[in-house]
Amino acid sequence: MLRKYCALIRNCDLGDLGKRKEKITERKEGLAEKALKRRTGWSLPRHAFDTLMTLYQIVTALLLVVPAYYFYTTLTRSKTPLSTEQSEKKAEEEPKTIMQPPRDDLEPPKDDPFTLEQLREFDGSDPSKPIYVSIKGTVFDVSRKRETYGPGGSYNIFAGKDGSKGLGLSSLKAEDAIPDYSTLPDTEKTVLNDWHSFFTKRYNIVGRVIDLPPAVANLSSNL
Ligand code: HEM
Repeated sequence: MLRKYCALIRNCDLGDLGKRKEKITERKEGLAEKALKRRTGWSLPRHAFDTLMTLYQIVTALLLVVPAYYFYTTLTRSKTPLSTEQSEKKAEEEPKTIMQPPRDDLEPPKDDPFTLEQLREFDGSDPSKPIYVSIKGTVFDVSRKRETYGPGGSYNIFAGKDGSKGLGLSSLKAEDAIPDYSTLPDTEKTVLNDWHSFFTKRYNIVGRVIDLPPAVANLSSNL
C-alpha cells in the first residue's frame, strides 16, 4: 500500500528512498572528511574516521546528559522529605536550643548541708564568693555564669536562694522565687523538673538545703 502510494505521489519506490538516504549520508560524511582534511591536514582511513565521529557523538551526548543529570538530582534531593529516622538523627546532631550544651567535665556531686540563710551568702554580691542556685533543695554552683546570675544578670533573682516555684512558673518575679513549689500544677512541676535536669547536666552540685518548707521538705528532688 505504502509502496503504491509513494510510487503514485513521487514516482518512486521505498528502495529509491533508502538509496537516496544512503547517498545523502555518504555525501555528508564525505564533506565532513574533506572539512577535517582541510582544517587539520589529517587524512584518516575510513574506519578510523567513523570511529572518531562516533566518539564525537558520544562525547557531545555526555556533555549534555551529565550536567542535566546533576541538575535534576540536586533539585530532587533538596525537595525529598527526610525519613523519620533521618530526621531523628539530624535532630540529635544539631543543638535543639540556644541554651548551653550539657558538660562532660562535672565533678562528683557533694552533699554538704546548707540552710536557706547560709545560701544567701552566695548570691553573687560578694565577688570573692561562688554563686549558688538551689532547685528543689539541690544546690548548684553557677559561678561559671557570673554575668547571668550575678548582680544585674538576667537570672540573678534565683541566686543565693531556692526559687523552685519561680522556675516552675517560668516567672522572674521576686515573690515567685521561693522554695515551696507544692501548689504548682503537674505541668509546671514538669517544667521545674526539666530545670533540675538542665542544671544537673551543666553545673556542679555542691550540697543540699536542709531546711526547706515542710510542704516540700520530704519530696524527692530526684526525677
Ligand atoms: C522573653 C523571655 C526569655 C528569653 C528571650 C530568654 C532567653 C534565654 C536565653 C537566650 C538563655 C540562654 C542564656 C545562656 O546560655 O547564657 C536563657 C537561659 C535561661 N533562662 Fe531564659 N529567657 C526568657 C525568659 C525566662 C524566664 C521567664 C525564666 C524564668 C524561669 C527564664 C529562665 C532561664 C534560665 C534558668 C536559664 C538558664 C541559664 C543558664 O544557662 O544557666 N528565662 N534564657
